[in-house]
Amino acid sequence: MKIIIADNYEEMSIKAANIVAEQIKLKPSSSLGLATGGTPVGMYQSLIKMYENGEISFKDITTYNLDEYIGLPENHEQSYRYFMDNNLFNHIDIDKSKTNVPNGNINEGQADAEAKRYDKLISNAEIDLQVLGIGGNGHIGFNEPCDIFNKNVFAVKLTENTIKANSRFFNDISEVPKMAITMGIKSIMMAKKIILLASGKEKSEIIKATIQGNITPKVPASVLQLHRNVTFVLDKEAASLL
Ligand code: PGA
Repeated sequence: MKIIIADNYEEMSIKAANIVAEQIKLKPSSSLGLATGGTPVGMYQSLIKMYENGEISFKDITTYNLDEYIGLPENHEQSYRYFMDNNLFNHIDIDKSKTNVPNGNINEGQADAEAKRYDKLISNAEIDLQVLGIGGNGHIGFNEPCDIFNKNVFAVKLTENTIKANSRFFNDISEVPKMAITMGIKSIMMAKKIILLASGKEKSEIIKATIQGNITPKVPASVLQLHRNVTFVLDKEAASLL
């Protein structure tokens, strides 16, 4: 397990972007696993700058996102498809047909079928580098704390903690979807390389539990202790309890 500690959010974002850029330079046809949330936005901005400067190209890259809300159309401002288009894909030379996000424009009854479809896609994907954020409750993707590690892509009921955390992006908490489709722990652990980004004091306790605590599905990210090539890219505040 490698731990990189940056002075602040900006530096964390640049360090993470450098790791992704190295992967792209090393293998221009890489498959990247991507994450949404507030944390990776700065990293995506750095990658866009590198693309604009001619340092990297995404033209042969394929991407697979971790998760998507169920019940939001693609053009909903809070859908993860919209987030990815807006924060990255619309600003680089990627072939949009090679960008994969679970389809969230479905009702809850269609969720298992969509999870199955996405799982097949992920199983054949061989992800070279997976980018992760972490929830305050230790979730990666939408693998919420529970009694067993979920394996494959599945439809998940979001915990109140997550619904509350994500309500900051919606007009009202009642608008936050209650379910999502997410890569499972096995899908994530299959990636050849993983980087997890975390910033801010509010992530310090869960970062300590993830890196130095027991491996338990109650702290889903703790399973990363078992991965052979994982790098935590933290700012000082997130790393302050290590
Ligand atoms: P955040 O979300 O980056 O907005 O803190 C992280 C997550 O829930 O995975």
